[in-house]
Amino acid sequence: MGETVIFRCRRNSVRAERMDWGMKNRLSRIIKPETGRTVMLAVDHGYFMGPTHKLEEPRKTTEPLLAHSDAIMCTRGVLRTSINPGSTVPIVLRVSGGASIIGESLTNEAITTSVRDAVRLNVAAMALSIFVGSAHEHQTLTNLGKLVNEGEEHGIPVLAVTAVGKELEKRDARYLALACRIAAEIGAHFVKTYYCEDFGKVVKGCPVPLVVAGGPKLETELDAFQLAYDAIQDGAVGVDMGRNIWQSEHPVPMIKAIREIVHGGVTVREAQEVYDRSKNTKEQVILRPSLAR
Ligand code: R5P
Repeated sequence: MGETVIFRCRRNSVRAERMDWGMKNRLSRIIKPETGRTVMLAVDHGYFMGPTHKLEEPRKTTEPLLAHSDAIMCTRGVLRTSINPGSTVPIVLRVSGGASIIGESLTNEAITTSVRDAVRLNVAAMALSIFVGSAHEHQTLTNLGKLVNEGEEHGIPVLAVTAVGKELEKRDARYLALACRIAAEIGAHFVKTYYCEDFGKVVKGCPVPLVVAGGPKLETELDAFQLAYDAIQDGAVGVDMGRNIWQSEHPVPMIKAIREIVHGGVTVREAQEVYDRSKNTKEQVILRPSLAR
């Protein structure tokens, strides 16, 4: 019998048989086997930025969005204080930190949360940042290695975030392809990166699924739809988006429209229609009802 492909991106597939049941099951809770895609909601910004605009009260921000998210990326502090434990949404737990936006260096991160606590919190995956090319490259890459070792032991997948700190201009295909490949080589089970020109090169060189961050809020909703659309077309398995959703004037219509792009394969124009109709009528606008969480 052939191998079962559980996650698809344009060029790469993850063969489920390589993984143990627990690891497969946790990843399938995040990257939905029905479409091979995911819409993760990122709300971990406070771990280095403090009370970020529109995320001042994490519970208020996240509650209306939970039902539309395939996973929530947050720290244990936000999880324990602001997410209802009765919720069934899978958690991708940020376990790295130790630097702040006003400190000397954003790249000086350590692992701040134990795997034992991640197990206690019943998370679907653990996430940490790597800063390739920075003064703390070695430290953050060896953090990743250690986390993967422990993740493998407990059946918990690891999401590596190819972070750039304040150097946003680093986000080009050459740099991101290097960082994503290194993350995969060290054993990350999936990687979060930025969308960029020639993103196909980043996908081609990375043998594990990629999700893209939204980055700072873009000028219009249409820009965010375009980013999500292009990333999916070029082979990402989804988004791990924060500010472009919850800093929008209409976060729920926004995430519904992003879901339609990621899971429903709609165009940017159709996504804009979903957004407009949903925002104006508050009606349940879902082009493909089967894709609702
Ligand atoms: C940054 O390191 C944080 O981990 C965020 O999760 C990430 O940047 C995604 O959020 P956004 O779409 O707001 O960039």
